Amino acid sequence: MPGYEIDEDGLPRSVVGEWALEKHERLRKYVDITRAIRRKFIVPDSSRKYVGGAAYIDLFAGPGRARIRESTRVIDGSPVVAARAAATSKGPFGEMHLADADQQLCEASVKRVRNAGGVVTGYAASAEVAAKTVVAKLNSDGLHFAFLDPYNLEGLTFATIKQLSMLHRVDILLHLSVADLQRNLDRYSAALHSPLDEVAPGWRTAVNLKQSANSLRVAYVSYWQDKMKELGFTHRGVELVTGSRNQRLYWLVFLSRSEFANDLWDKIRHISGQGQLGL
Ligand SMILES: C[S@@+](CC[C@H](N)C(=O)[O-])C[C@H]1O[C@@H](n2cnc3c(N)ncnc32)[C@H](O)[C@@H]1O
Repeated sequence: MPGYEIDEDGLPRSVVGEWALEKHERLRKYVDITRAIRRKFIVPDSSRKYVGGAAYIDLFAGPGRARIRESTRVIDGSPVVAARAAATSKGPFGEMHLADADQQLCEASVKRVRNAGGVVTGYAASAEVAAKTVVAKLNSDGLHFAFLDPYNLEGLTFATIKQLSMLHRVDILLHLSVADLQRNLDRYSAALHSPLDEVAPGWRTAVNLKQSANSLRVAYVSYWQDKMKELGFTHRGVELVTGSRNQRLYWLVFLSRSEFANDLWDKIRHISGQGQLGL
C-alpha cells in the first residue's frame, strides 16, 4: 500500500508503484473512446434517444495526485486523469462523483478535479455508502461510468456493485486484488467472517472449500463473475495485470451491458498486450 506525503500545492499525494501509470492509461483510454457517445447524452438531440446525462463515479478516489515510488515523477490520480481526458477529448462528464473513506484525501481530490475543470461532488464515506447516495441522485437512463480501485478486496462489496447496477447504462472498470487473494485466501476461508463474504456473498456454500489454494482462487473468482452476471452485466472482461517483476497485481475487470462492450474492452485491455485471466 502506498504512503502519503504533502505535494507542492499543500495537499496530500500518495506514493505508488509505477504500474499505476498503466492503470491510468486504461482509464484514459476508456474515457477517450467513449467521448462521442457521452457527448450525445450531455447534449441530447431532437430524437431524445440519449437522455439522462453522463456521470463519472470514482468510489476509491484517493487524493488525485501521486508520486511514483523511488522517483521524482508526479502524476495525476484517477479522478484527475478522467477529468483531463474527458476535457481533452471534448466529451466532458456532466458531473463527477468522488468518494474516499479518508476525508482529507477526498477533499484533496475534489479540489484537484475542480481545478482541472470538472463539475464535482465529494463524499467522505465508504464506497458502499457513497454508491447509494450517488445512484439516488443520477438519472438511471443516462450513460454513466464507474471506476473502482481499492487497495485490496475489502470495500469492494457486492452491495456497492449492486447499487451501481441499478443504473441502466453503466460501465464499470474495477480492480480486483489478486495479491490480497493470494496472500490471504487461507486466512479468509478459515475465518468465520472475512472480506470475501461481502465481495461475493454465498461463496462458502457455492464453492468447494476443500481444494488446492490455486483451484479455490479460480473457483472464487468464477463465482464472483457469476454474481456479476446476476446483476445483469452481460459483458464481462477480465485481464491479469502484472508488475515489472512479473508479480500478479490485480485483475482488471470490465462490466457492461452495452452492445459495444466487447469492442470497448478489446481497446482497453490491449494497451500493454498482457495475457488473459491467469489465476
Ligand atoms: C488505490 S487507492 C486509490 C487510487 C486512485 N484510484 C488513483 O488511481 O489515483 C484506494 C483509496 O481507497 C480509499 N479507501 C479504502 N477503503 C475504502 C472504502 N471502503 N471506501 C472508500 N474508499 C476507501 C483509500 O483511502 C485510498 O485512498
